[in-house]
Amino acid sequence: MSSASIKGITNLGQWVTWDPLQNQMAIGDGGTWIIEDGLFTEHHSKSFADKKFLNAEGRLLTPGLIDSHTHPAFATTRELEFEMRSQGKTYQEIAQAGGGIRNSVRKLRDISESDLADLVETRLNLMLQHGTTTVECKSGYGLSTKAEIKSLQAIQTASDRTPIKTRSTLLGAHEIPDEYRDDRNSYIDIIVNEMIPAVSQQKLAQYCDVFCETGVYTTNETEKILNAAKEHGMQLKFHADEFVSSGGAELAAKMGALSADHLMAISEAGISALAASNTVATLLPGTTFFLGTNTWAPARKLLDAGASLALATDFNPGSNMSLSMPFILTLAVIYLHMTPLEALQAATSGAAKSMGIEKSTGSITPGMSADAVLWHAENYRQLPYFYGSNQVYKVVVNGKAIF
Ligand code: NIG
Ligand code: FE
Repeated sequence: MSSASIKGITNLGQWVTWDPLQNQMAIGDGGTWIIEDGLFTEHHSKSFADKKFLNAEGRLLTPGLIDSHTHPAFATTRELEFEMRSQGKTYQEIAQAGGGIRNSVRKLRDISESDLADLVETRLNLMLQHGTTTVECKSGYGLSTKAEIKSLQAIQTASDRTPIKTRSTLLGAHEIPDEYRDDRNSYIDIIVNEMIPAVSQQKLAQYCDVFCETGVYTTNETEKILNAAKEHGMQLKFHADEFVSSGGAELAAKMGALSADHLMAISEAGISALAASNTVATLLPGTTFFLGTNTWAPARKLLDAGASLALATDFNPGSNMSLSMPFILTLAVIYLHMTPLEALQAATSGAAKSMGIEKSTGSITPGMSADAVLWHAENYRQLPYFYGSNQVYKVVVNGKAIF
């Protein structure tokens, strides 16, 4: 993918962004956003004919979308399980029978780092083509120090080869690996005493995440693992309350995590705890959709309680094989009953907050990283409304237009 530095985006139609000064979304119309050194500097009411400006020809401009929860480092797809689910087996039944995450683990341990990097690179480029300019990438299909490091290194290599911006998460506690099924404490000791120190020393991940869920990791185990991550300078993320409420959201808030993700089964106490904290509630409606259930996360309750929201894809081979953030916007509007503007906010500045990068990324305002998308659309409501095909016209990352 080639790219070219631009001096700004001109001849704009509608532009929509979070406004950090007003603490709300702002809707503008026309003119030019000037870019210098990879940052937005100011908005001009006139347009420029200079070829160094990207000509929007009246199209909609939004901040680049931020996908704050993905699992792109997997070796093989799992379409057989997809078919089994369509015939009535549940995700948990498939996992208990040795499928699911543990199926992906067996495959990941066999692939070379360079082949894995090629796969991740292809996926990152597809994300970029769908308007994602920053993405959080988790490991979590290796479940050994060696295979988790291989995954994180493959993500790093892939990231260096594409213009999309990535941040990495160690998810060594995604499952209990087969060889430790009867001795889970020993695996947790490996995560705490070997995996986290090694990943932190090699600077391979900014964040650490745990699948805190009944049948996977308990809240006590999660706390132990994430305390170790914190001591090694990592920021915390949670897979919390996806199928059963087990106090994951409450623990995320208590530990000062950046985000608690999934939350399809969050309790009233969990909603209050997130609302009273700085922890972002990251909702992944693509997972509910792809699992074919109707347990939509309570977005309206979270918003009414005052929680900050992010939206993300949860792209992974088991529970959501889609990397399209615009599709997530559509699901958020239909099933989470968010307005198109709330959904766009959650997919840009809300997501930036869930990654701790909101001071530099996620809005079209002076001083922010010039990451943006021009859409084949006239206004922001058309983004979630027209679904199932790609409306991206052009993507800009760090002030460079991508072709
Ligand atoms: O976020 N919930 C746990 N992990 C993934 C699913 C991973 C898989 O099935 O491969 C998720 O949904
Ligand atoms: Fe996930």
